[in-house]
Amino acid sequence: MSSKKICAANWKLHKNPKETLQYLEEFSKLAKDNSVGEVIFFPPASSWQTFSENSPFSWGAQNVHWELQGAFTGENSAKVLKDLGASSCLVGHSERRQIFNETKEVLIKKIHCLLEVGIIPLLCVGETLEERESGRMNAIIEEQVLSVLKSFKAPQEIWIAYEPVWAIGTGKVATPQQANEAHLFVRGLLEKSWGSESSKNTPILYGGSVKPENAEELLEQPEVDGFLVGGASLKCNEFISICSIAQKHS
Ligand code: PGA
Repeated sequence: MSSKKICAANWKLHKNPKETLQYLEEFSKLAKDNSVGEVIFFPPASSWQTFSENSPFSWGAQNVHWELQGAFTGENSAKVLKDLGASSCLVGHSERRQIFNETKEVLIKKIHCLLEVGIIPLLCVGETLEERESGRMNAIIEEQVLSVLKSFKAPQEIWIAYEPVWAIGTGKVATPQQANEAHLFVRGLLEKSWGSESSKNTPILYGGSVKPENAEELLEQPEVDGFLVGGASLKCNEFISICSIAQKHS
């Protein structure tokens, strides 16, 4: 829908600051010879500072707390993230929902907190295989999206990533048609809740086993505005290939 394609890298719990710096140097060099378009990295918190000081590319966090400061041992603040120059933050990744039991109430609080400090939340949604096979996929996605949209009185800048849980880290990618259908469904929810401007302007990224080999056919789908890439983003040459393919479709 959006003409500009976005490639986001979710590094999860990978790379220390030294490896981060090496990657950034290599990626920057490769980006000089390859047109990469809009790229955003989500490194682990231990590499925020390295990104802040060295990255010519946008970056963000994988998680923050819903309060800006206080007695919250082990948490990270959206305010610090903003001060370091980050632009975005993942919210509701399936690993956060499943492993860390994050509920919709928690995700909503985090999204409100991020917007308050001027950071764009990248809301991740998606169904499990069991939910898809039992015909509950749309109901699940609707609940994940609408619970957030309904918590605001007016439209906000929120990006969305559709990531079917069964495709994350499994090597099993959604077919281009499955991705397009889900994106269209999410766009419809945006339109119903926040109107056509919002629905047109909200980037909806696909995530789940994206690789250089499947990027092209996914991007041929009109509703796919880019990618959230896990495993393949850890290898500089693979991620640069994905970014160049996306740039060709921008
Ligand atoms: P994957 O991860 O590309 O390794 O499937 C995607 C994600 O978890 O965002």
